[in-house]
Amino acid sequence: PSTTALIVAAGSGSRAGGALPKQYAMVAGKPLVAHAYAAFAGHPAVDEVVVVIAAGAEALAADALGAVRTVVGGATRRESVARGLAAVTGERVLVHDAARPFVPAAVIDRVLAALDSADAAMPVLAVADTLVRDGAVVPRDGLARVQTPQGFRVDALRAAHAGWPAGDEATDDAQMVRRLGGSVALVQGDAMLDKVTHPDDFAAAEARVTRETR
Ligand code: C5P
Repeated sequence: PSTTALIVAAGSGSRAGGALPKQYAMVAGKPLVAHAYAAFAGHPAVDEVVVVIAAGAEALAADALGAVRTVVGGATRRESVARGLAAVTGERVLVHDAARPFVPAAVIDRVLAALDSADAAMPVLAVADTLVRDGAVVPRDGLARVQTPQGFRVDALRAAHAGWPAGDEATDDAQMVRRLGGSVALVQGDAMLDKVTHPDDFAAAEARVTRETR
């Protein structure tokens, strides 16, 4: 089946500080968003890459990525995915946060393989730390951190977005498919996929990729 990668990069990136929105800040020699772009564009199972950018970021995106297919996003991540989805032509879509720059090909492989028998698939990592809520320990059995890329049968994701109540802001897409009764497979994630959110995360991300490619 044909596969489109949809990279959402339309956030303000304001928590990361800095003069540029974080998706265009330099990490390991390239703008942040260019890393994920290269991972999908270079993966043999990905036929097309669409990048969702903020209104007014056209020049920044062109500088960072060259001539790529872009779509203008919305006020929330959910809206940005919905707008990007309208431009997707494949039967499968991989929705990925630009804020997770380093995408191992093996994770893409696992997500796509799981879609043979599920509507959606997401990479997860078990939680290693003790977790507390308001100081009280929350049992961590069965808890996992959810990453992207999340894979979908395009029909299933379109249906989830179409049936979604306005104003309910899901932070990822697999939970939307699941809430509407779709099947969601879990596959092994990778620490390389951790999100770059705060200023300190840039240094950590850079150290990860340097270690990995040495
Ligand atoms: O804010 P957060 O880190 O959860 O955003 C995850 C991803 O969603 C980021 O790559 C960000 O650029 C994207 N996003 C978007 N449109 C928005 C908000 C976030 O494309 N309105």
